Amino acid sequence: MTAVGKGIDRLDARAKVTGKAQYAAEVPVANVVHAVIVTSNQAAAKIAAIDARAAEHAPGVLTVLTSANAPKLPGAKAKTGPVDRVLQLLQEAESPYNDCPIAVVVADTLERARAAAELVQVSYTPGGVQTELRERLGHAYAPKTAGPREPADSSRGDVAAGLEAAFVQVDATYTTTNQHHNPMEMHGLTAVWQGQQSLTVYDTSQGIFGVRKKLAAVFGLAESNVRVISRYVGGGFGCKGSPWSHLALCAMAAQVTGRPVRLVLTRQQMFSLVGYRPRTIQRVVLGADAKGKLTAVRHDVISETSRLDEFSEPSALQTRMLYACPNIATTHRLVRLDVPTPTFTRAPGEATGTFALEVALDELATALQLDPVELRLRNYAERDPGEDKPWSSKELRQCYQQAAQRFGWAARRAAPGSHRDGKLLVGWGMATATYPARQSAASAVARIDREGRVLVQAGTQDIGTGTYTIMAQIAADALGLPVERVRFELGDTTLPETPISGGSQTASSTGSAVQAAARELKKKLLALGAPLRGQELGLKELDALLAKMSEPELRAEARTEEKAERKRYSSHSFGAQFAEVKIDPDLRQIRVTRCVSAFAAGKILNPKTARSQYIGGMVWGIGLALLEHTARDPRTGRVVTRDLADYHVPVHADIPELEVILVDERDPYVNEVGAKGLGEIGITGIAAAIANAVHHATGKRVRDLPITLDKLI
Ligand code: MOS
Repeated sequence: MTAVGKGIDRLDARAKVTGKAQYAAEVPVANVVHAVIVTSNQAAAKIAAIDARAAEHAPGVLTVLTSANAPKLPGAKAKTGPVDRVLQLLQEAESPYNDCPIAVVVADTLERARAAAELVQVSYTPGGVQTELRERLGHAYAPKTAGPREPADSSRGDVAAGLEAAFVQVDATYTTTNQHHNPMEMHGLTAVWQGQQSLTVYDTSQGIFGVRKKLAAVFGLAESNVRVISRYVGGGFGCKGSPWSHLALCAMAAQVTGRPVRLVLTRQQMFSLVGYRPRTIQRVVLGADAKGKLTAVRHDVISETSRLDEFSEPSALQTRMLYACPNIATTHRLVRLDVPTPTFTRAPGEATGTFALEVALDELATALQLDPVELRLRNYAERDPGEDKPWSSKELRQCYQQAAQRFGWAARRAAPGSHRDGKLLVGWGMATATYPARQSAASAVARIDREGRVLVQAGTQDIGTGTYTIMAQIAADALGLPVERVRFELGDTTLPETPISGGSQTASSTGSAVQAAARELKKKLLALGAPLRGQELGLKELDALLAKMSEPELRAEARTEEKAERKRYSSHSFGAQFAEVKIDPDLRQIRVTRCVSAFAAGKILNPKTARSQYIGGMVWGIGLALLEHTARDPRTGRVVTRDLADYHVPVHADIPELEVILVDERDPYVNEVGAKGLGEIGITGIAAAIANAVHHATGKRVRDLPITLDKLI
């Protein structure tokens, strides 16, 4: 009986639904006081004057920090790595973007801190605010990288010659808009100093080791004197991947007041203080011969970043590898605006990039009068054309086939508007999904005590994805013990170091370390004399041996990283997304009525949590396609859709039946556990599938997200 591959329930589910699971801002800490951030209401402005006297004298207030009295921090501007951001920590009297931190009020209760925050008076010296991407295209520049690591540009073959030789061409520009992550649990923390040199932070984080590094740098502490704990995270999606200003502001408030301090962002502050998905303008040029074989591909991306820092949405990366074509060129450019710094947002790059590329392919299929699936099969990449490497595995063909069959794609009539349901226009669209399979170095420890209880530990995070559960499953199988025997502990920087829970790499990275540590422990148990039945340890005999053991426990540690052999291959997850929309011909109201998607992501560790990840991504893709849009007032740079009433996310009534097919895929190279990672692929391709379905229903090609009904009039 193996645990991996079984759809067991989340091991943390009971703690979460009964309220036993304590989140960062509800960890009980004696003597705690509350901080509230006061934010600006202007961008590109200097602060002329700030009057905190009324706030300071308000009931219960301990202190009000502004640029006038905030401690000067040695590492206030420190950048500690490629996913780290420049913070705004009251070091200057300025407001580079609207809703920027300009004061912190600390009081004995949250209510009193909020009331006092209202009393802070600010006047500004305005600058010229520029937040419109389209108006600043002349200032676009080439960033150092696209995403944290990839080169901004790529070029292979001769695109101009490829276009010259083409029988048909598509040349179109696609745009995507701002999205804000908005996990149910807002960012929040509790900061506790032990003296002046040692800091403990209870945070909600996708990367506790990055938070530790950042806080150590900002406050000039040894990393070993900073401890970050994050046991439960109420959703991440990228915003909790980097340390943001409020973390250091909360620690600063705790340092100044000498009290433990708690700080939770308001829902409104989630729209300015913790990043967002930047807008993109993407030009895609495709050339193909009469049979539909691509002769040239160009993908040029412009996205926005702040004046303070650089984040480049890597929307053209998948274009380098997804289809076979001898001539491919891609570029990424950035425009600096008076906005906060954008950041990773679920499938950064691929979510927006597959929209442009996969709609362009649909336009090519229309021009060639070729079935969209057939067009993709004619350009199926048998090896990665960008890296010129073989795939470690690729079951994309199976994905197309199984999803198409299940969807009933064969019944599709090509002409737009040719399917009806009563008076409703019916459209069917499809697109390819893809996301890279990454692996970073990770460590874990496995231990077993005299009672036979197994404790496996790694300092990783469970951001709602099921890390607690799959790690216990991996450890149980590697040990040859039932999963009920295993407890997995995470979310503490005193545990072995693991990478950020981002980039869909936790299963592969931390999973490999957990497996290796558990295998080491199994060796020790065998050496102790435990009998082996198949792959499983004989429980009765093992328990008897452990009870007699002289040490209190047996323990094994392991560290794993990407193997040299793996680097010879290109590893990606793939999928096929099929969507049906129904559109009212009079009102132009768009409803997604059906999605069938098939994904191949290596070994599926737990089909239940895997399916949840896929459908979560697909739901967000429906939001990306039809609803989500952060609106900024160009006069002030202020977000005007600052809550979940104005910022529309899909609700249950918007979500139809989502069918997910888990395509069997064996990958001997990708990593020890054979899992490619699947947290992000669900949101890729889906917006294009919906846009393509809208075209199929109406004949109208919408190239600007979100597809709202006004764009169909
Ligand atoms: Mo993901 S955007 O790397 O949390």
